[in-house]
Amino acid sequence: MSASASISKTIYLGPFVHSISLTKLDICETGAVGVDENGIIAFVEKELDLEAVQEKHSWQDATPIHLSGNAFLFPGFIDTHTHAPQHPNNGLFGKTTLLNWLKTYTFPMELSFKDLKHAETVYRNFVSRTLSHGTTTAAYYATIHVPATNLLADICLARGQRALIGRVCMNSDLSPEDYRDASVSQSVADSKASIDYIRSIDPKGSIVRPVVTPRFAPSCTTECLTEIGKLAKDEDAFIQTHISENKNEIELVKELFPSSKSYTDVYDTHNLLTPKTILAHAIHLSIEERKTILARGSSLSHCPCSNTAITSGCAPIRELLDEGHTIGLGTDVSGGFHPSILENVRHAIWTSRHLALQSSLGDKAKLSTEEALYLATRGGAAVVGLSEKVGGFDVGKEFDAQLIDLGSVEAGGNNDGHFEAGPVDIFGQESWLEKVEKWVYAGDDRNTTAVWVSGRLVHKTRRYVGAQANG
Ligand code: GUN
Ligand code: FE
Repeated sequence: MSASASISKTIYLGPFVHSISLTKLDICETGAVGVDENGIIAFVEKELDLEAVQEKHSWQDATPIHLSGNAFLFPGFIDTHTHAPQHPNNGLFGKTTLLNWLKTYTFPMELSFKDLKHAETVYRNFVSRTLSHGTTTAAYYATIHVPATNLLADICLARGQRALIGRVCMNSDLSPEDYRDASVSQSVADSKASIDYIRSIDPKGSIVRPVVTPRFAPSCTTECLTEIGKLAKDEDAFIQTHISENKNEIELVKELFPSSKSYTDVYDTHNLLTPKTILAHAIHLSIEERKTILARGSSLSHCPCSNTAITSGCAPIRELLDEGHTIGLGTDVSGGFHPSILENVRHAIWTSRHLALQSSLGDKAKLSTEEALYLATRGGAAVVGLSEKVGGFDVGKEFDAQLIDLGSVEAGGNNDGHFEAGPVDIFGQESWLEKVEKWVYAGDDRNTTAVWVSGRLVHKTRRYVGAQANG
């Protein structure tokens, strides 16, 4: 697929749901979303039937798609932090915490990506997997290997998944000798080679963009961080890294960078905190560090599955939101054990409730369903610099969407040994908000029957074909 291939004008008729603010969902039962040949949302109507919509917009030549039953359109999810090469390790973490998890599971797996054939198998699978969970945009860490990193960009572009792709920089002796950059100049040259390649395959950055990726402070020397900061500035590129994830990691940063005031200060003094910086985790930051991040306009990726799995801590998201931070959700595969942002929506809510139970904030720490869905869509869009383009169904934005089909109790319960409905039973008397809540707390990828990026269908299941035929 080419990023510029045109599609036919389409009107999607049926319910749609999206965030209109941090605390509010707009739920429209009788929607009509018009998507033009460039994948841009040309209009959003709420009360008109097909004929009236076509007449109002002179769109008689558009293809109507009727969404059936209990299906609704929802904006595509944005995964603001994930590691594609760690996909084979999903679910494997035992009782490790960050630093021994890296050594036990992560570095050996990432090293295997010098084999391009292996990289191709895993990356094809992971991009298909994340698309099937409704992820239309992902900020990926690759490995130190330029060919495999570039291949990940090729695969995202071919599948039509929006992506930031980062060749990982790490030159310190924290990582094994056979899995680290041999020198600072290699860190910079290989990163630049990957940036150039990604920009050559998608010059406008419509689908894939490079992201400068110093892994985290302990895996880079101060010289490396300095040069990587310069590279990001010269290239006007996004930056992604990890911050303040684990208490032992924070101690290590203190030892390795004794002249820095804090973990945040390490990045700040190497010019790595910019409005295009995505900082993953941000669990144990001091108030002063939070102020610095806010002042630099950098954003945060909240990775609740990972933070629980490798017992890093509970990020105080409610407080960070109140302070005005820009926040999205990240799966952080395979610190996080699940490629789904929906799973991380739930875990963001669970984590906030554990904080409510255990901290003096009480109920004030709780995230609502609406807030978690906002982080998964519009919040994430802001983190990856795509607020103008994606995150909701607004005229002028690109149509990045997923169709959520909740099925019905009749569809599944015929006791003939087959159970084909998704995981959510709808009995017919639920309000639309209740349907959304059932999806959030009990749904999964079986409910995601079709996914579009910029108006192009990039994933579908057999149930979607059925829905269209019935439409
Ligand atoms: N810190 C440095 N590298 C990693 C990684 O791969 N995953 C997580 N969760 N934290 C990190
Ligand atoms: Fe990570």
